[in-house]
Amino acid sequence: MIETVATTPFDDQKPGTSGLRKKVPHFQTAHYVQNFVQSIFDVAKRPEKAVLVLGGDGRFFNREVVDIVIRMAAANGYGRVIVGANGLLSTPAASNLIRQRKASGGIILSASHNPGGPKGDFGIKYNIANGGPAPEGVTEAIYRRTLEIKEYRIAKAAAPDLSTPGEIAFEGMTIEVVDPVADYAALMEQLFDFAKIQALIASGFTLTFDAMHAVTGPYATEILENRLGAAKGTVVNGEPKPDFGGGHPDPNAVHAADLIARLMGDDAPDFGAASDGDGDRNMIVGRGIVVSPSDSLAVLAANAHLAPGYAGGIAGIARSMPTSQAADRVAAKRGLGMYETPTGWKFFGNLLDAGKVTICGEESSGTGSNHVREKDGVWAVLLWLNILAERGESVKAILEAHWAEFGRNYYQRHDYEEIDKRAAEKLMESLRDRLASMAGQRFGTLVVSEADDFCYKDPVDGSISTGQGVRIVFSGGSRIVFRLSGTGTKGATLRVYIEKFEPDPAKHGQNPEEALAELVETANAVGEIEKRTGRTKPNVIT
Ligand code: G6P
Ligand code: ZN
Repeated sequence: MIETVATTPFDDQKPGTSGLRKKVPHFQTAHYVQNFVQSIFDVAKRPEKAVLVLGGDGRFFNREVVDIVIRMAAANGYGRVIVGANGLLSTPAASNLIRQRKASGGIILSASHNPGGPKGDFGIKYNIANGGPAPEGVTEAIYRRTLEIKEYRIAKAAAPDLSTPGEIAFEGMTIEVVDPVADYAALMEQLFDFAKIQALIASGFTLTFDAMHAVTGPYATEILENRLGAAKGTVVNGEPKPDFGGGHPDPNAVHAADLIARLMGDDAPDFGAASDGDGDRNMIVGRGIVVSPSDSLAVLAANAHLAPGYAGGIAGIARSMPTSQAADRVAAKRGLGMYETPTGWKFFGNLLDAGKVTICGEESSGTGSNHVREKDGVWAVLLWLNILAERGESVKAILEAHWAEFGRNYYQRHDYEEIDKRAAEKLMESLRDRLASMAGQRFGTLVVSEADDFCYKDPVDGSISTGQGVRIVFSGGSRIVFRLSGTGTKGATLRVYIEKFEPDPAKHGQNPEEALAELVETANAVGEIEKRTGRTKPNVIT
């Protein structure tokens, strides 16, 4: 039986950088989830009896929302819901299923790297038929719909048990419960030379993977331990937990500090990696060296042809605007197309669909390729392993050789979290007001060559996104970028991205702190950070 329930709009269901994110108690407000899901279904382009992919990262409230979405999909004319067993799917695995199974779209339940638990964060994201996050036109339409919604439709029956793969008839619809890992692991076997990586591991190469008690545990265990022969225990924190074991599932220097410490120690393994809550982010650490996400993108792009899936070479590279320009140097030297997009994976979708780029990446620990339409943590780990197996060198040696060939882009991101929203907006406003007069200004030894507020025109569909971050470029290619985060759930987060290009190999051995000191000082002065936020230093430096 289908029920139509009267409801009234909420005024705060505007999707951010990556779907709708709020605290769990907020999502638990009566009708809150249902209003948003109905708005997605009202707006989503789909044929009759369409296929919907559904799953999440297993965080607190995941199961309840999986049940609601299944009951609403049945009531809204979907023909089939493909759902990961127990409601689990990593974000890249969901993207893969949407593509493989020709679904009209997918709903992914995750707040990515944000903490979970009863008071933690939750999120709902809609992906379209190409497997990628809904573009702005679609998220805007969903938002408009949430402001006028009057009713939603839902099956009265409770959703069935989802623990065992198989098909279940439910209210005129088919629920197909799938093993969350199987299709994804098969795709990885196509892209990478598993025999070669197996041989590397069998020869004594050691690795560790921190799943941070999040969704990649089962994926990494199956692929690294079961299929590639890494020792049992290679995957640590491999059991997904609704509150991520009380941790913060973000693979960065603060939250994956244990992993970094291990890789810096005397008995360090050769390779370490971590992934985030929903499995799309990655951190790569070699023995004695942390690889910055921007450098990782550049190295992967420069070496991708060593893996079977990319043996024919890559079409081009895309990076988000604040990501360092290290990849641009690879593109320039190799004669590849290079695209600079606003922050958010959704902007890569059109470029990938049009075949303009093969590899994409972001400073926010995301790298991926045209194999799916999301960034992909385990994919990045496997591409690194494939490259290591082919080159037979250490991570450190590969990175140093890369810098020697292309130059080094020193890079840091400074985050000021949970600052006053109004103050943060004023800071950005003030920067924008001063942009026109900045060119030619001198700060110490630095001279501003150009300054703007990044505006992107999508080369495929011509859509325009304005106000994507303030860029201040100095002669010599150094840059400071100011931007407000689009993923926070409390106050505002100011991100300051600092980058310096160093062509001279003799100067490639500095600490980023040292190399960037003058730029950091300049960023504080230009942004009036202390005056406007009351903060003397960032909470997190990545
Ligand atoms: C999510 C998106 C990424 C994006 C990141 C930026 O993780 O999937 O594509 O780079 O958010 O977040 P921010 O907080 O800087 O807006
Ligand atoms: Zn994520």
